[in-house]
Amino acid sequence: MTKSLTITRPDDWHLHLRDGAMLRAILPETARHFARAIIMPNLMPPVVTGAQALAYRDRILAALPAGMSFEPLMTLYLTEDSNTEDIAAAHANGLIKAVKLYPAGATTNSASGVSDFSKVFGILEKMAEIGLPLCVHGEVTDHNIDIFDREAIFIDRVLEPIRSSIPELRIIMEHITTSDGVDYVRENEANLAATITTHHLIINRNHILVGGIKPHYYCLPVAKREEHRLALRIAATSGDNRFFLGTDSAPHVDTLKENACGCAGCFTASNTMALLAHVFEEDQSLNHLEAFASQNGPAFYGMPLNNDTITLTKSDTPTNFPSKIYAGEEKVTVFDPGFPVYWSVT
Ligand code: DOR
Ligand code: ZN
Repeated sequence: MTKSLTITRPDDWHLHLRDGAMLRAILPETARHFARAIIMPNLMPPVVTGAQALAYRDRILAALPAGMSFEPLMTLYLTEDSNTEDIAAAHANGLIKAVKLYPAGATTNSASGVSDFSKVFGILEKMAEIGLPLCVHGEVTDHNIDIFDREAIFIDRVLEPIRSSIPELRIIMEHITTSDGVDYVRENEANLAATITTHHLIINRNHILVGGIKPHYYCLPVAKREEHRLALRIAATSGDNRFFLGTDSAPHVDTLKENACGCAGCFTASNTMALLAHVFEEDQSLNHLEAFASQNGPAFYGMPLNNDTITLTKSDTPTNFPSKIYAGEEKVTVFDPGFPVYWSVT
């Protein structure tokens, strides 16, 4: 039996596109299905200034194959030395849609992030005044805090103090992984939303560790216990407009994933929409997939919905997704959910 679902073309509200050969290899994987994406600025060196964001945007558009359309929504990487006027100007001229806060040391290329949050308060106040949202990687980085507790503790120690001092600041908790994150968003009425990745709806920490270590399931924030995955599933499939898709699709070449010190990141751009259709159908919520992937994000960011559609089709035989994408000579492994998926974007 063939089943199909047509939805407004989705956007990805959290995406790593990298640069150079990797950018050229992976950009079509996103542009094929998504109209727009919030582009993470954690390059080496990071995208800190408006001029750097403009140059990166040009490189992304130059890498887009002829005939494809895609709008990169640029962000700036917040550092303790970021310039308030430069950020405000990049927002005023429409170049950037958000600023990204990485606690220093939290994840890939986050060394230039923020250690002393009081040093960026002036910038955050300005952002609240001009209506520029803050995307937050919500994990504390103290060595003595267990990696599985870092999101919950971040909410109490960093996020809540920022929100109570600057309640007008619009904040997106990126890639939440816990019921604590879900509850915190639900308890707060205004100016707060969260993105959820595809992979955190599918894997828990057992998938990473049981039966041998699976480097392609390792990402940050790391997947948590099953009860947290289930809380994310309920939030994502509920239709609640405070939760929307941010894939955090984050490619690393296989040699750096399958490594004694493997990089964090799951590459899901290629099969995300099919996997989401599977997940939402499993939870009897296919009617909320459009809200999660295509409507709630634009509403929070104050942007129009896309005016075209994609169609997802379910067939009788499992879909063959590519298992690898080639970036020059190097391979990138596409996220394998570990079960057959019958949906595809047609
Ligand atoms: O798993 C992740 N990979 N989490 C992040 O926060 C960064 C990302 C990357 O850039 O590789
Ligand atoms: Zn990310």
